[in-house]
Amino acid sequence: MSDPILAHCEGAVLTLTFNRLDKKNAITADMYSALANALNVAARDAGVRVVVIQGATAVFTAGNDLFDFLSNPPDTSPEAEPAPVVRFLEALRTFPKPLLASVCGPAVGIGTTLLLHCDLVYAGDNAAFSMPFVNLGLCPEGGSALLLPQLVGHQRAAEKLLLGEPFYAEEALEMGLVNRVLPPEEVNAYTQVQAAKLAAKPAASMLAAKALMKLGNTKLPGVMQAELRAFGELLQGPAAKEAITAVMQKRKPDFSQC
Ligand code: COA
Repeated sequence: MSDPILAHCEGAVLTLTFNRLDKKNAITADMYSALANALNVAARDAGVRVVVIQGATAVFTAGNDLFDFLSNPPDTSPEAEPAPVVRFLEALRTFPKPLLASVCGPAVGIGTTLLLHCDLVYAGDNAAFSMPFVNLGLCPEGGSALLLPQLVGHQRAAEKLLLGEPFYAEEALEMGLVNRVLPPEEVNAYTQVQAAKLAAKPAASMLAAKALMKLGNTKLPGVMQAELRAFGELLQGPAAKEAITAVMQKRKPDFSQC
């Protein structure tokens, strides 16, 4: 079986590629671990100056693996050893070097919220973003409860986080979630060009610039902890079980009892 997260270094640019196409790049605990480890190593490795996260031209990621949600739910209690998804989110939040994403096709759940931690995001005109947490009996994660309203204002963030309907590349561009929209087959290559430009700049200035841009986000760690606690509790509840089972069975959920 091929590796579900591919890591490839070209010069000083490390590219991490979702590679589980048969499951629409849905992310398992092992994949979160691989991503967290790669980011943490890259953060310390002077040979890596920029990281790119990409998917395929048809799909970025279908978000958290729904089977994992039911059979292997992350323990998000404060006293627990951090779950792989928690380690990944923490690695994203604290990643000190430029982080780019190249997004085509569906970017569901964490596939969209991870973009809020990226510095530059390029999207295919087929990109479809969604954060259907409430529809799944869950709540926002990945800092989206803070970062999305910060980016687009409360009402627009509520539309995306409470209604949870998909939105598309042009709207994401207008919202400021993505920097540029391109034909899907050009996005990965264009992102590499931008990544190489960043990698050629003075490393210390780059680190300082990114750290300064993030300095104001003092509430983010606390919000992410609160999100995780609520998410973990909701994941054990009846609404999440019904919603996730319904998605897997390709039927409408019935929330009349939850
Ligand atoms: N977790 C586990 N498996 C998933 C998955 C997920 N999040 N998303 C898709 N898959 C699997 C499907 O079960 C299916 O597997 P099968 O071929 O063994 O039956 C395969 O990937 C193809 O999925 P399918 O739904 O047929 O693809 P599509 O192109 O019609 O739709 C999506 C793609 C991403 C829009 C759709 O799969 C989807 O909405 N997935 C659920 C997303 C979700 O709710 N994620 C959780 C966010 S918190």
